[in-house]
Amino acid sequence: MGAGQLVCPIFFEKISRLRTSTKKNPIFAPVNTINYLLRYLQFLATAKTKYYIHSPFVFNLINEVIYDKRHYYAFDDIALLREKLLQNKHSITIADYGAGSTRMPKHQRRIAQIATHSSVSDKVGRLLFKLALHQKAQHLLELGTALGISTLYQARAVGANACIHTIEGCPQTAAYAKRNFEVLTATNIQLHVGRFETQLPKVLAQMPTLDMVLFDGNHRKMPTLQYFEQCLPLAHENSVFIFDDIYWSAEMVAAWEQIKQHPKVRLSIDLFRVGLVFFKTDQAKEHFKLYF
Ligand SMILES: C[S@@+](CC[C@H](N)C(=O)[O-])C[C@H]1O[C@@H](n2cnc3c(N)ncnc32)[C@H](O)[C@@H]1O
Repeated sequence: MGAGQLVCPIFFEKISRLRTSTKKNPIFAPVNTINYLLRYLQFLATAKTKYYIHSPFVFNLINEVIYDKRHYYAFDDIALLREKLLQNKHSITIADYGAGSTRMPKHQRRIAQIATHSSVSDKVGRLLFKLALHQKAQHLLELGTALGISTLYQARAVGANACIHTIEGCPQTAAYAKRNFEVLTATNIQLHVGRFETQLPKVLAQMPTLDMVLFDGNHRKMPTLQYFEQCLPLAHENSVFIFDDIYWSAEMVAAWEQIKQHPKVRLSIDLFRVGLVFFKTDQAKEHFKLYF
């Protein structure tokens, strides 16, 4: 695969999320876009293929999850739902508690726009599905539901006895997510509406352990690190924590670096779009960057 082929799809997919935030700050949009491209080029220069990986755990994860091409029926159901959301012109009032919220805490946005700019891509959704399956996750947590696309990928992987708790601050967005969960009869999801700051401690108090956590909201350094620290006590040998948009801003790059250095983190896998961390105590501390 040529460098151009590698650069373009990933860059344009991620830039669509970046555009959502820079619209509020049009002056900074070109600067953010250039910085993002530079980070991506830097990533490409240092990322490895699977043939350079010596860790048996990571090699197995690459074959069974990261580069696995198996198709599941759930993917078609979610793709169909996403297609409908992309056609939906209905506008809702967004209460945005995440990064960039200070200037415009409330504004109107179409469902189609949210589906385009906020939801995980098919590729990352499939990764979440396969990761949840591979980890045999039973107790899952997600920060940032939006329309529920990433929630559904995980929920469809883990079976009816598992439970995925997902937290969303915007009530109108959450109402759409709830509807989407009903459409796909996903009964193993518990949706909590409210800010992470208030909901996360309550949700964690109900959970025995954390097998898998997706951090996908409020992409700023300090909040990301705080949510991570709050979740850590429930992490175990086989937990995986997934951080979305680790190159989205300088703050997120700094947060990701700090998370990697945490003494409890034994292994990190940087896929540019997302970063994965594991807590296996029998693993020598290692960091990987992989083309995805
Ligand atoms: C990127 S979207 C999540 C996308 C979703 N995981 C998916 O891929 O389908 C982030 C969501 O987090 C929510 N959010 C951001 N900061 C929050 C906070 N402090 N408390 C609660 N929700 C927050 C936003 O309202 C937004 O819907």
